[in-house]
Amino acid sequence: MIETNQIEKVSWGKVDGKEVYLYTLTNASGSQLQVSTYGAILVSFLTADKNGTMADVLLGKDSLEDYLKNDCYLGATVGQFANRIAKGKITLDGVDYQLATNNGPNFLHGGDKGFDSHVFDIVEEISEEGINSIVLSHTSPDGFENLPGNVTLKLTISLTDENEVVLDYSATTDKKTIVNFTSHPYFNLKGEGEISDHTLQLNCNFYTPIDETCIPTGEIATVKGTPFDFTEEKVIGHEIDADHEQTKIGIGYDHNLVINKPLGEFGLLGVAYEATTGRAMEVYTTEPGVQFYTGNWLEGDLGKNQTAHIKRQGFCLEAQHYPDSPNQPHFPSVILNPGEEYSQKTVYKFVVK
Ligand code: BGC
Repeated sequence: MIETNQIEKVSWGKVDGKEVYLYTLTNASGSQLQVSTYGAILVSFLTADKNGTMADVLLGKDSLEDYLKNDCYLGATVGQFANRIAKGKITLDGVDYQLATNNGPNFLHGGDKGFDSHVFDIVEEISEEGINSIVLSHTSPDGFENLPGNVTLKLTISLTDENEVVLDYSATTDKKTIVNFTSHPYFNLKGEGEISDHTLQLNCNFYTPIDETCIPTGEIATVKGTPFDFTEEKVIGHEIDADHEQTKIGIGYDHNLVINKPLGEFGLLGVAYEATTGRAMEVYTTEPGVQFYTGNWLEGDLGKNQTAHIKRQGFCLEAQHYPDSPNQPHFPSVILNPGEEYSQKTVYKFVVK
């Protein structure tokens, strides 16, 4: 019998001499979210289908040891800058910074050792009517990964009785820097198999096409008439392998779409759905963009039950700023100054239909 509405914490091992904990948050209907303080990783989310049968809708790994090699960023909190920066080069106030080039010629997801690879501190556990939260924090010291500023992220992860996984980020710096935080859960609403049969609807009329190294060309293009048109509900697999330059470059979907809403406003990004289980996931965010990634590089990566993932076993909707924003002045700004507070909020809400 599951004890509902509670926060549980167990020791999960150590990284760099620092104790790591695995949290389990349970809501009133018995859904369970597991979070590791290493990488603030969303490890599992057990939730019911239309018949009340529970399944884990998150891809992940069995143990902390396995997560130490998390090349696909399964469930991880990604920063200080998520996504790609062309050739790892940025310029701030006339000063050039060379960041890691850990994805072909480009920088990706925080560089060699991003926020996903650090043990977060536990700030607080909060249990309130209808919502259980943990507050985690990590500070990236000035110059780490060649990025300026002591950057502190405070991340509140909650599970509500409305079956929402809520991610609330706030960050500060003591020097002008760039930030772009996101979470990298891979979802499979069936809990197994691949995700091409899920449907998706996205409130995105535009996307940012990429060059052959996956860097935005700078164009903000209409999705109309392209495989990126999810303005009406569509099966993910329908045009995933279309004879289209962009899906060819991405080996499927691996692109930033522009969310139809005013900058900074919290609103609905879209809905994913899996018909056999009736599970649907609504996504809400404050962010201007979303990296829609269909797990095209998952094959062979070690998953749960010591079983290798198959290609497209999960899909990601990573709410964030656009890739390469530091080098594309017409994209929404990713600059954070001392005295300012960065904030972002993303909600994954699970319902059955
Ligand atoms: C990127 C993919 C990458 C994946 C895992 C996504 O955000 O866009 O290209 O394979 O993360 O690193």
